Amino acid sequence: MLHPNHELDEYVKQHTTPMGNVLEELTRLTYLTTYNPRMISGPVQGRFLAMICQMIQPQRVLEIGTFTGYSTICMAMALPNKSVIDTLEINDELQETIETYLSKAGVSPKVNLIIGNALEIIPSLDTTYDLIYIDGEKREYPQYLDVCLPKLNIHGYIIADNVLWNGKVYQNELNDPQTDAVRRFNKMIQENNSLENVLLPIRDGMMMVRKNY
Ligand SMILES: C[S@@+](CC[C@H](N)C(=O)[O-])C[C@H]1O[C@@H](n2cnc3c(N)ncnc32)[C@H](O)[C@@H]1O
Repeated sequence: MLHPNHELDEYVKQHTTPMGNVLEELTRLTYLTTYNPRMISGPVQGRFLAMICQMIQPQRVLEIGTFTGYSTICMAMALPNKSVIDTLEINDELQETIETYLSKAGVSPKVNLIIGNALEIIPSLDTTYDLIYIDGEKREYPQYLDVCLPKLNIHGYIIADNVLWNGKVYQNELNDPQTDAVRRFNKMIQENNSLENVLLPIRDGMMMVRKNY
């Protein structure tokens, strides 16, 4: 018998517009060539991010955690032509794959790939953003929030992935460093009066945040 969550995931996938051949090829390549391919966003999350970009039409997007470029491409395909994504990836071994697939998807002109540590790079970026997608190292989520909030425009949005961390965040007896960091991140957002937020139980949990002032 299929696990109920597997059946749910399959049903959701079957009723979501697919992201296309290039991203399917990138998924296969990611599973063949990377150590932790399950980090890839996938078609449901990808379509969700694309829809958000179509709705809010951000001019500048910042992404923490490019991995092989799946979410970057999903957002870039949905952005207006003059919009730009700055995407940050610490692992330089991924650069060639990312650049190849940005090109195959025809979105290279909209994407500025920066290889390096987001925590060091973001404070030095000389711009502000309408949308920030956080999908890097879970232990660093609280620090990401600290460096990202000053770079987020008023009425801009943050979307953060994996905020349910496989259900661990609401099991009080679990206290590993990643779970603790994700819990701290969620609490920081919930307690910040300048922010409005909703935790969506999509896949591993996505926090949507709006900066009101
Ligand atoms: C969950 S994966 C990102 C998945 C990607 N968004 C996608 O849709 O396929 C997390 C990525 O964050 C990167 N990362 C971790 N810490 C980072 C940091 N401090 N700065 C930049 N990238 C980081 C990792 O190397 C990894 O590739």
